[in-house]
Amino acid sequence: MRKRPLKVALLGCGVVGSEVARIMTTHADDLAARIGAPVELAGVAVRRPSKVRDGIDPALVTTDATGLVKRGDIDVVVEVIGGIEPARSLITTAFEYGASVVSANKALLAQDGAALHAAAEDHDADLYYEAAVAGAIPLIRPLRESLAGDKVNRVLGIVNGTTNFILDKMDSTGAGYQEALDEATALGYAEADPTADVEGFDAAAKAAILAGIAFHTRVRLDDVYREGMTEVTASDFASARNMGCTIKLLAICERAADGQSVTARVHPAMIPLTHPLASVRGAYNAVFVESDASGQLMFYGPGAGGAPTASAVLGDLVAVCRNRLNGSTGPGESAYAALPVSGMGDVVTRYHISLDVADKPGVLAQVATVFAEHGVSIDTVRQTGKDGEASLVVVTHRASDAALGGTVEALRKLDTVRGVASIMRVEGE
Ligand code: HSE
Repeated sequence: MRKRPLKVALLGCGVVGSEVARIMTTHADDLAARIGAPVELAGVAVRRPSKVRDGIDPALVTTDATGLVKRGDIDVVVEVIGGIEPARSLITTAFEYGASVVSANKALLAQDGAALHAAAEDHDADLYYEAAVAGAIPLIRPLRESLAGDKVNRVLGIVNGTTNFILDKMDSTGAGYQEALDEATALGYAEADPTADVEGFDAAAKAAILAGIAFHTRVRLDDVYREGMTEVTASDFASARNMGCTIKLLAICERAADGQSVTARVHPAMIPLTHPLASVRGAYNAVFVESDASGQLMFYGPGAGGAPTASAVLGDLVAVCRNRLNGSTGPGESAYAALPVSGMGDVVTRYHISLDVADKPGVLAQVATVFAEHGVSIDTVRQTGKDGEASLVVVTHRASDAALGGTVEALRKLDTVRGVASIMRVEGE
């Protein structure tokens, strides 16, 4: 075995970082055998040095993260501090000082992935980030390596555990959104400020990363259409059940039917109970990948948490260390396809629309005419009437989001339409 240990600088020692340090220590012999050289924790950058960290030599702890990455003898920087700055500057500096980088930072990768990949390439270094998407679940490597010879057409996934916990709770107990959120908070699944999860920002960053890798095209966070799940109601779940569906917050990355463009989006959607994603319960994540040759694949597991996320970080660390010993680097950014990223208007899917209407002769015909005028074909209509008012549920065949948007705008202008109670996309059929 090579004698000189590979030196690792750990930036951040919170829930994930402390697990990375623990596994590096407890599995040191196995890691050394798998890599071909020992890995040594050379320094740990933290914000609060006085906090006691079990199993970490206090002499390794520093508040000077920049000084640590500039030491010059660091082989790999592991960045688990999250956020844009100072993570971005630290990663860039790490490359300048000759290190490779393993990161779990989805927000940074989704926003600045191209520039960071370019910086890695300029310095013959690796940038690996399996932990940035869906915790322990292997996704980046399967898309980047195992499916590199195939053509991925669709990535459809539950990539946020907090929102899946909330929606699952609403589905299984009939609870409303706030009640389910309160339970998620009490159990520690939801943060005190749940905005990033419930408004879909976290899932949108993951969608940008997955779409970029799947379609060999740069997809930035701004390219991802995003709708949160705070408006989903118990009544939406009742409607979903009537259709043999449940509701999930989905990240959907798709190649257009003509193959000439791609889209990436995050929004709540009805999905048939027969679809494998429908049975993903609690805070679990799962991603369904459809490719030309492989057909349908599903990746499932814990998408968050200290140890599961650290597992993904350690896998990258082993890969990067092996590359370093071989004097090579692994795959970098692959954006050669450079497909245009279309907006939401071009997305084609099915819709479930609930309308409150007047219950009198000709109303159904009026509503149907509006759908027809916008080229949206109706699949089913169900009406429940009471006291001169009625609830009308229309499920469409596949139509563009632009056409559906035009339809809804026109429906709202009809005197006989009292309100549009909900619009939900239907996916996975
Ligand atoms: N907050 C995320 C989730 C985990 O609930 O899945 C980190 O991305």
